[in-house]
Amino acid sequence: MRDPAPQTIYLNDYKVSPFLINKTDLVFDLGEHSTRVTTTLTVERNPQSTEQDAVLVLHGSAELDLQSVQINGQLLGEGDYVQDSDSLTLNNMPVSGVITTEVLIKPQLNTTMMGLYRSRTLYCTQCEAEGFRDITYYLDRPDVMSEFTTRVIADKATYPVLLSNGNPIDQGDLEGGKHFVTWHDPFKKPAYLFALVAGTLACVEDSFTTMSGRDIKLQIFVEEKDLDKCAHAMLSLKNSMAWDEETYGREYDLDIFMIVAVDDFNMGAMENKGLNIFNTSAVLANPRTTTDASFQRVEAIVAHEYFHNWSGNRVTCRDWFQLSLKEGFTVYRDSQFSADMNSPTVKRIEDASYLRTHQFAEDGGPMSHPVQPDSYMEINNFYTLTVYEKGSEVVGMIRTLLGPDTFRKGSDLYFDRHDGQAVTIEEFVRAMEDASGRDLTQFRRWYKQSGTPVLKVRSQHDAEAQTLTLDFEQSCPATPGQNEKLPFVIPVKLGLVGEKGNDLVLNANGDTQIIYELNEAKQTLLIEGVGESAVPSLLRGLSAPVKLDYGYSTEQLAHLMANDSDGFNRWDASQTLCLGVLKQLTQDSLRDRPMALNSQVIDAYRALLTDESLDPAMVALMLQLPSEALLHEEAEIIHAAAIHDARSFVRTALAGSLADQFMALYQRHNTQPTYAPDAQQIGSRSLKNAALNYLMLVGDTGIKLAWQQFESADNMTDKAAALSALVNCPEASKYAEQALAEFEAEYRDEALVMNLWLQIQAINSQTGGLARVRDLMNHSAFTMSNPNKLRSLIGAFCNANLVNFHNPDGSGYAFLQEQVIALNNKNPQVAARLVTPLTRWKQFPEPNSGLMRKALQAIADEPGLVKDVLEIATKSL
Ligand code: BES
Ligand code: ZN
Repeated sequence: MRDPAPQTIYLNDYKVSPFLINKTDLVFDLGEHSTRVTTTLTVERNPQSTEQDAVLVLHGSAELDLQSVQINGQLLGEGDYVQDSDSLTLNNMPVSGVITTEVLIKPQLNTTMMGLYRSRTLYCTQCEAEGFRDITYYLDRPDVMSEFTTRVIADKATYPVLLSNGNPIDQGDLEGGKHFVTWHDPFKKPAYLFALVAGTLACVEDSFTTMSGRDIKLQIFVEEKDLDKCAHAMLSLKNSMAWDEETYGREYDLDIFMIVAVDDFNMGAMENKGLNIFNTSAVLANPRTTTDASFQRVEAIVAHEYFHNWSGNRVTCRDWFQLSLKEGFTVYRDSQFSADMNSPTVKRIEDASYLRTHQFAEDGGPMSHPVQPDSYMEINNFYTLTVYEKGSEVVGMIRTLLGPDTFRKGSDLYFDRHDGQAVTIEEFVRAMEDASGRDLTQFRRWYKQSGTPVLKVRSQHDAEAQTLTLDFEQSCPATPGQNEKLPFVIPVKLGLVGEKGNDLVLNANGDTQIIYELNEAKQTLLIEGVGESAVPSLLRGLSAPVKLDYGYSTEQLAHLMANDSDGFNRWDASQTLCLGVLKQLTQDSLRDRPMALNSQVIDAYRALLTDESLDPAMVALMLQLPSEALLHEEAEIIHAAAIHDARSFVRTALAGSLADQFMALYQRHNTQPTYAPDAQQIGSRSLKNAALNYLMLVGDTGIKLAWQQFESADNMTDKAAALSALVNCPEASKYAEQALAEFEAEYRDEALVMNLWLQIQAINSQTGGLARVRDLMNHSAFTMSNPNKLRSLIGAFCNANLVNFHNPDGSGYAFLQEQVIALNNKNPQVAARLVTPLTRWKQFPEPNSGLMRKALQAIADEPGLVKDVLEIATKSL
């Protein structure tokens, strides 16, 4: 697969399509060696287009072997059309007409996991963003929406189940042992939402009655052996359907909703109309094989893809620059859902810390781009943390500014006004403006300006006047292509925590929490009647995706950590406290100064561990300490080994000083109720396992507990936590070896569990990480052709075993270079994503920096590089 000279696409070049496709009729004849796709398109000129004499250029790809083209039943001769590696041009297209093309494609040989491809025994598709053009010639752009009818023909014995979008309208047997099913989707849709599945699949069935009383058939298709892992996804689906009716007034439209699980999938899942296709890792779950985190991931992804039925399918994107219109909004919707189903504070902490660790890093690096990018080479590279997570934060800020009721009016208006249309982010914001009467002109900068703003706040207490002055100052660093930034609208949710830990009243209304709107570079807030020295609790719930600089003292942070009425900010205070300590200790480690842990920090943690009234999930989160990845993000110059040492030191020091408390916690939460992935149990297990990890650092009590837990666990959360604790413990190598072997023997037939087994070893931070990973690449549980396995082993090593990956000998970088080049042609999307850890080379000291750059350069210089990888490598150099 060779790309033609890669081009940059610009938002400003958008033009409506000169042609529309009203109806799309597809026939797939799935053969043993190739598949014949016969496509019949009812085409007419677009009255909106200014190019009424344009020729018809259909998108295609080098994968298509064209057999014939007809216009209105007339076979075209060679002179009537021009074919090249990515298009088919019809020179004499009448004002309207029926175009029929016949192509042969070879899904058996397709390793890209785009278009029509094979996953083990199945045929399946992935068309977003531009994969439909690998299936047939088409106007493969989201603003061309069409009514699809799809007939699938295949051998009946091998492919008894034949699925596509919409409702089945016909089926029957054909000669030669073949059969067919015809599907019709009454809703016009862009080609990226097309799907087809064929194979031997078992199915779990259920139903849902909608708010208007319609009965919807729900089906989850999996391999027979996985039938016992569908209940959680089904429950999540029903909960999502009810939630979207309740929260957004959105009802499901077709009579049937299907989910299919496939092993080989580049992403988590895909929202194809009526036929969602899921990575097995995003749908299968049962207590024996699945951790709490994976249960929650399944719930969130099922919800996310379901919610797209409105935010994405019924109202879709005009072009791919609008991607956040569907993804940012849908991530926001799925995070609201998960918050409602579980613990809102825990969910918010998880999202905020993910955003800070990964999206802030993206925003500060060479690939930094706005939520609405203005150009791209390869759209697949823009399914980013910025488009998704920051896009979701921006929607959340609109809700904060408008209030929940007005926001709901805005979303109703948006869905009703644009149902059946392909629209832009602008239309979403305008609906919010129209529903609220509020001018969001300045707010729109969140979509256009890249970079993470910094919010500096300083306070002054005037004891005599009994006032507290808060001086706010916002700024945003330069990012690629954007040197100067204009001020953002920043909603700052804030309160004041008094000396006794109580909330202080902030205004004449008696409010103890307000949303202060910042819209200038500098602004001052005066709070009256503040008689005591209070600690400001700022940006509660991370009310805007910015970095806060307040300059808290250790005492103030300990005070917030113990008393803030806002749970999120109690956690945040613990993070800020530890970050400060860890930054200092990193410097000590670098300069070979002795390290010591401030007793105030130990006291703060002692208080935390002994307060039985606290929510276990919250305590567990506070015990996590800022991750190495976050410390990398926060560092001006990233000294990976010193960061690792500092963090290990703090963990060991806390473990040493608080061993008894950790033990008590472990015992208190080491109960074995009947497993349920609910917030309460998950909180309790995560606290127990957090305590276990600390206990591993003090003598061999921890080792014994971990071994016991490993042997007796009745669920994967506890089993995997114990395994990971043993694997990471230098004194437990014998136990670790045995546990790894037992685990392998027990789960060798469970692909997803073996991925976890690979991952736990990939992120073992002890020295020799790369050699272990290279060894595991030869294990039968690993293959380069499955994206989940690549992520579990290679992705996990390069992104989450930072001290090994950044070995100053450069071996980690050379390894990644090798893998990216090996994958380049096979799976461009996954190859491109793998490059990310090399892109931040400028933030590392020598020799790492030069070695990272060298690996990146070697990738960029590789002949035949696909544009996916080329874009990331060249933009980062
Ligand atoms: N539409 C995407 C799937 C997709 C992404 C297709 C990129 C093609 C390229 C889907 O809705 C999605 O966003 N899936 C996420 C999970 C979600 C919970 C954020 C995924 O697959 O990771
Ligand atoms: Zn999505």
